Formats: sequence, C-alpha cells, structure tokens
Amino acid sequence: MPETTHVDYSTKIPNNVGLMDDQRVLKALEQWHPGYIDWWMTMGPDGFQTSDVYLRTAISIDPKGWAKFDYVKMPEYRWGILLAPRAEGREVNFGAHKGEPAWQEVPGEYRAMLRRLIVVQGDTEPASVEQQRYLGKTAPSLYDMRNLFQVNVEEGRHLWAMVYLLHKYFGKDGREEADQLLQRRSGDADKPRMLGAFNEETPDWLSFFMFTYFTDRDGKMQLESLAQSGFDPLSRTCRFMLTEEAHHMFVGETGVTRAVERTCQAMQEAGIEDPYDIPAVRKLGVIDLPTMQKKANLHFSLSLDLFGNEVSTNAANYYNAGVKGRFQETRIEDDHQLTGATYPVSKLVDGQIKMVEEPALTAINMRLRDDYVADCAKGMERWNKAIEKSGVAFRFKLPHVAFHRHIGEFQNIKATPDGEALGDAEWAKQKDQWLPSKADGDFIQSLMQPCWEPGRFASWITPPKVGIDNKGGDFEYVKIHRA
Ligand SMILES: [Fe+2]
Ligand SMILES: [Fe+2]
Repeated sequence: MPETTHVDYSTKIPNNVGLMDDQRVLKALEQWHPGYIDWWMTMGPDGFQTSDVYLRTAISIDPKGWAKFDYVKMPEYRWGILLAPRAEGREVNFGAHKGEPAWQEVPGEYRAMLRRLIVVQGDTEPASVEQQRYLGKTAPSLYDMRNLFQVNVEEGRHLWAMVYLLHKYFGKDGREEADQLLQRRSGDADKPRMLGAFNEETPDWLSFFMFTYFTDRDGKMQLESLAQSGFDPLSRTCRFMLTEEAHHMFVGETGVTRAVERTCQAMQEAGIEDPYDIPAVRKLGVIDLPTMQKKANLHFSLSLDLFGNEVSTNAANYYNAGVKGRFQETRIEDDHQLTGATYPVSKLVDGQIKMVEEPALTAINMRLRDDYVADCAKGMERWNKAIEKSGVAFRFKLPHVAFHRHIGEFQNIKATPDGEALGDAEWAKQKDQWLPSKADGDFIQSLMQPCWEPGRFASWITPPKVGIDNKGGDFEYVKIHRA
C-alpha cells in the first residue's frame, strides 16, 4: 500500500508509510515492540495500566479530524508511525544544498549527523515518560490524570517515530541505537538520558505543568527546526509530531493558569492582599505565587540549556548540510545560506554580559533560543492576565538567560534572575529566593493529594474552562481499575 492520509490499522503497528510492503522494516519494528512494551510496563506510568483512559489516538493525518477519542487501556494504545503527507516538489530550503530536491534517502556524507539528531530527539521522548511516572497517584483530578497519560502515550509514539527512522534508514547501527533508546534511564547514574533537563525529577504536578510548558516547548522548537530538514522523512515525521506537541504545551500553560487562578481566588476570599505573605497564603491550601515563580525560574533555565552552546560549529554544520534549519526557516527573508550575515549573541566579556555580533551561521542555536524565549514570554503573559483580573499585585517574569545555567556562555558564573553577576557565597545565601528550596518542595508535596472523584479538583487548582473532547464537568476521564 502506498503512503496515505489514512492510517492502516491492519498491521500490528498502525502506520501510513506502507509498512505492509516493507517486510524488512516491519519485522525489525515487530522485534523491537516487546522491548518497548516491557519498557512501558516497567518505566511508564506507575499503576493505572489496567484502567480505562479516555485517550485520543491518531487515526489519520488530515489536520482536521486526525484524532479519535475513546477509552483505552494504556498498554493497548495503538502507537503508530505517522508521517505528514509528502509535499510534491519539496526542496532543500537552506544551506549549501539549497534548491536541490529534498532527499528521500539519507545522503552518505550526512549519515552520522542525521543519526545523531534523531537519536538525541528520540532519547527525550521516553525520558519524560520516566520522569513523570509517579504523578498519576497524586493527580489533582481525573481530567488532569487523563492529560498526563495522553502526554505519556504520545511521547511513547514520538519514540516510535524516531525508531522507525532509525530502522528504516540506518541499518545495523540504527537498530543498535533503537535498542539503546530502551536501555537508558532518566536520572540513572550509569546510563542516564542524553540531555540534562531529562534527568531531573518531576516531583509534583506544578513541576509537570512547568515541564510541559517550558521543556515540551523546547521540544517544539527542536521539532520545528528538524521539520525544515532537507531529509524529507525526518521533516514529515516532525511535522506530524508537532500537531501532538501542541496539546502538551496546552496542558502546561492551562495547568499553571488554573493553579494561579485558584491561588488568587483563595487570597481574595480570605482578604489577603500581599502575595508575599507566604505563610498566610499557604494556609489556604494553595501554592503561593512567589513559589510558582521559582518553579518557572528552574524549568526555564534547565530548558535553556537544551539549546546548547550559543556559538556552535556543530549547529553551523547542521545548517550548512541542510539537515536542521531555523524556526520557520522558509518564512525568513534572507539568502538561507547566511553568507556574511551576523547575529547578536549574549556573551560574557570580561565578566560583563554583553551582546556581541557573531557569524549568523555559528549563532544558529542562539537564534533558536531567542525564538523560544519570545514564545515562552507570550504564554507567561496569559498567566499575568489571570493575576491582573483578580487584582492581586504580582507579575511573573522570565529570568535572565544568564541565570542558573549549566551549558554555554554563562555556565561558570552565578547570576541573579535580573542578570547581575554575583559571587559564590552571595549565590549560596540567596539562591533559595530564586529557586525552589527543600521547604518549598515539601510544602507543594503536602498539597499533592489525589482527587479521583469525577468532577472534583484538588484544593490548589481550578477546574478547566472546557473539558477534553467537549465532555461535561463530571465526565469520568479515567475509570480507575483497582486490582
Ligand atoms: Fe515528544
Ligand atoms: Fe511533548
């Protein structure tokens, strides 16, 4: 069967890539499947594997109506391989090969590069599932629990998407990489996941919302730039993943908004005006806004590290090769080869943070990170709107890019959220004002009481404005099966 818009469900692995006619890859994936299920059962959501969850499954790649909603037990979710439709006459849109027909096979000279990009992207997908595996138990509602599991099964599908590319286009070493994607573990000392932010804990639901807001948004930026790839199968894979990714960021953005709303409501009801009167606010069973700001500082700074070094010859090579472009590459008006162009990069010069013009080609990471920061700021404004509406005098702010960094220009300095460099002793004294402390974590943990009755919500969060798939307020999003 040729590649279609409709997904073929007759094979064990639903797909629109004609797997039936590609026995070699079908067999390889069928062999990989048991290991994946094994990983899902041991490292996926803890508990709830026999519960019926109201999930969406991709049944088509038609932008309108691609998903079907129904109760599914997670291990029975149909993880499929779905690529956006092939665009007739698509070309390589940037770099040294600009104007050549897009590649349907991996160009030999870029094989290692492409494999590396696919493996790094693939590694993040199971990592986040591992990070989130205990959250089901403390879900603030069935609605939120369902959203968590939706994100989890889709990250699982994203792993499938990358593994398909490895099996289909990279032969023996692709198979080995696919196996290793099931071996590494988030936070494991011996075989950790590849990127820092994916080895951190996601200890509570506020972290989950911040993670899906900030870190899944890094995922979006990476997928956007890989969707520009001259290697067409990668581009098409990423384009479909982006449709799913949008929901992950929605979960984060609305999750934080709902926590903010609940806090402001509770403060109003209790007549508390000062958002910094933390003991008084916490007594209300809600999360104070300054602690939310600290969580945002943490997740934002960890996510910035995912963009790598500001000035990077690797990024320049990827771009030149035509394998990884810029955000919305085709909408940018320039030569798409960056001959002689420069880009302002924030750097540490004699201990001062300064903007320095660098060749645009080596500043690709910086540019993507700038686009990311702008995107983060937009959603944060919506959190601020919610606070404004309630009349509480507080505003969220993204910290400076030099704050709490472990990669790039600022990794060796300490800086305040306003971007003032400071000494180690001063940092140690003040850091608990800017990042969640142990006590903050313990307080949040104390609020993480499961709330599993249909239509009910934990004390610290408001109900959503609308349900999933237009379901009413008391819809039973997860039918919990207690063994
Ligand atoms: Fe993903
Ligand atoms: Fe995601």
